[in-house]
Amino acid sequence: MTATPGQQPIVLLLSGPNLELLGQRQPLIYGTSTLSDHVAAATQEASRLGMVLEHLQSDSESVLVEAVHGARTRCAAIVVNGAALTHYGWSLHDALAAYDGPVVELHISNPNLREPWRHTSVLAPVATASIAGLGGHGYPLAVLAAARLLGLDPAPAPAPPVASAE
Ligand code: DQA
Repeated sequence: MTATPGQQPIVLLLSGPNLELLGQRQPLIYGTSTLSDHVAAATQEASRLGMVLEHLQSDSESVLVEAVHGARTRCAAIVVNGAALTHYGWSLHDALAAYDGPVVELHISNPNLREPWRHTSVLAPVATASIAGLGGHGYPLAVLAAARLLGLDPAPAPAPPVASAE
């Protein structure tokens, strides 16, 4: 893990092109919550799990690639909503392939239920896990998935007691 003793592990949330328009952009598909709302939910979940969330949004693939390079020695995990880069961003793929920690691919919508060109994810082969189609709920869930992959999630709540047959 990349956190030094005494420091909280960092999870890096990356947001690709056009996601800064969430809240205004195709609300029937992406909902009315803004990117700030999603980042706040992810930050809260990270804090609950003893992690620190950093977020970067860019419309430029090179900025995201450089952020992945910077995460290599600094961040314990990456959550990435690559937006349209998901479908053609091979340099983002290659950067993530060179990253050692868990990578959680995240989508608000379910691209597999949409236009055929969205059915291919070039990030999926370098993602440890993928979450799609859960709307904004996917943001805290992706952070939880990252924590689980890092072994940081506290023990799940015990199952409720089964009613006795007596
Ligand atoms: C998206 C799905 C992509 O196909 C699309 O290009 C996006 C958002 C999602 O979160 O559902 O911009 O990644």
